[in-house]
Amino acid sequence: MSKLGMEEHTTFFLKFLGVLFFLMTFGQVGQLAYCWLMTGGLLWLALTSGLGFSHDDSVAVLAAVFGLRAIPFIGKRLMTLAATYPLALTFRFASKILPKYTIDEAQFFSCDGCSDEVAARRKASLQELSEKWKKKYPKCQEFSLELKKMISDLRFTSARCFPAFNGVVQKYLDPSMALDRTEGVDVVDIDENSAMDISGSYGVNVCGYEKYKEFIEEGWTTAKKQGLFLGSLDKTVLDNIARLRKISGQPEVSFHMSGTEAVMCAVRVARFNTQKPLVVTFGGAYHGWWDGMQPVAGNERLPSDVLCLKDMSNLSLKVIEARSSEIAAVLVNPLQCFHLNQSPPSDPVLSSNNRKVGPTPGYKEWLHRLRDTCKQGGIPLIFDEVYTGFRLHPRGAQGAYDVKADIVCYGKTLGGGLPIGVVCGPTDLMARGDAKKAARVNYVIGTFAGHPFVMASMNAFLKWLELPETIKSYDVMHANIDNFIKTANAKFQEKDYPIQLTNWFSVWSILYTKPGRYHWLFQYFLKDAGVSLSWVGTGRLLFSLEWKKEDYDRLLERLLSACEQMQKGGWWEEPKANIKAKLGVEIGTAVFKNVLGLTG
Ligand SMILES: *[C@@H]1O[C@H](CO)[C@@H](O)[C@H](O)[C@H]1NC(C)=O
Repeated sequence: MSKLGMEEHTTFFLKFLGVLFFLMTFGQVGQLAYCWLMTGGLLWLALTSGLGFSHDDSVAVLAAVFGLRAIPFIGKRLMTLAATYPLALTFRFASKILPKYTIDEAQFFSCDGCSDEVAARRKASLQELSEKWKKKYPKCQEFSLELKKMISDLRFTSARCFPAFNGVVQKYLDPSMALDRTEGVDVVDIDENSAMDISGSYGVNVCGYEKYKEFIEEGWTTAKKQGLFLGSLDKTVLDNIARLRKISGQPEVSFHMSGTEAVMCAVRVARFNTQKPLVVTFGGAYHGWWDGMQPVAGNERLPSDVLCLKDMSNLSLKVIEARSSEIAAVLVNPLQCFHLNQSPPSDPVLSSNNRKVGPTPGYKEWLHRLRDTCKQGGIPLIFDEVYTGFRLHPRGAQGAYDVKADIVCYGKTLGGGLPIGVVCGPTDLMARGDAKKAARVNYVIGTFAGHPFVMASMNAFLKWLELPETIKSYDVMHANIDNFIKTANAKFQEKDYPIQLTNWFSVWSILYTKPGRYHWLFQYFLKDAGVSLSWVGTGRLLFSLEWKKEDYDRLLERLLSACEQMQKGGWWEEPKANIKAKLGVEIGTAVFKNVLGLTG
């Protein structure tokens, strides 16, 4: 019957295959898979040899046992899938398919189907701006040209528009700035041009640039005796800890060098001390550049131990409840409230008028429900307050929304102008060692943690934060901002400019009320009008406590002057073609060319 006559060796070969499978998949297949295989094997042995079942009956019993066991498991997985932020599922495929493409100069000015007259006006406007900038920013442009050869980060951040337009825009305009100094709410570049700063230095500038000069000065006065010395804590550190305990409402404090590191620490201590694998985040939230906490865009090693769920969704709460035995922590960045489940509102993703940002009603109630769900499931709630701590309120989002987190991460402005990351939490969650097992250690440390100069400038910041006039200044700022937003929006409407401002505390953004392919250009005209933005452009803007009524008025004048330039240049002419359809065709063609290998 058998050609090779191997009947009596079948068992040997089956075992051989089993061992090979184990060796070749070890470390790549989860331990759970081996456990299931092993359990299946043992059950099989017990049924066939021990209980004398026939092979066919044993298969049926095994199928029934595993089927029953799988029901709750599959139920939870399906629920998770339904609650998952959609981009977290599709991004890894989209990022492989979406090609780069360039709109060349012949199409650049008329890619919304405009008339020749409008295209000519646009071209003249861009040329005029380009010529003007050559005269206005000669030193800045030379500086940036040199620097770009050597700093990849700068090449990345100097691309400030919808990527397809980059090629042409970079030929005409370079928005890079080399800064000489800050002067109140203004920054002055090396060509001596002054601009009002609404970039907020990536969120650090809460107090106003002049304040940081004071903090740093004061810090240096205290710290210069020590200079570099690391590894010994002094009275300043103790004082900082006492103040941070009060602000965070948590007994333990851990110092790090950046907000990203603070998040790394918080997630690690939560996983270590709960001995559970998963961390929940909410779609669209940013938690620093560590790839362990970037479940969607921005990195190649998409983490498999992060559940990225939909924000403000009751289903997400159900998933957290059902899978509480696997979840080490729920991580929240309250800034998420401003662009709920949207991609970061930067100009490079602005392809039409597709920016939806603004404060979300009901966010406070959601945070409280999330707080309750975490408490019931025994899951630590981590607030990533790197951005929001001290910006929303002297006690951050915890203060602004009256909700208490278990672990709080701070960064940015807390260092009084120097780099810092801080984690505050309860003793049991902050432990770096296992009370019962000598070799289980959570190695979370940092060379520069507790640097005397940083500690001293932080101390200056924390002392300032407690002053009664500081606390009052937050209310004054929020009233000024509300007033500014109202006045500005009324003005834009009156002038029929297609923009609208929206804010959430001192974070604000520019919305476009009509479709258009050139809205991203607004940031270039803003720069020209003397307004300094960060590389994400008009999507995320910031005010500081330093801004006075006169400053807001001065800013509005500049916004209006930039609007006038946009209007005059024909950039806001009503599109003649359907932009979404055009985009679809452009991207579809590029994908097609890419698949055929027609582009590089
Ligand atoms: C979510 O649950 C809360 C409280 O149980 C309820 O008030 C709210 O209406 C629910 N939201 C939706 C969208 O079903």
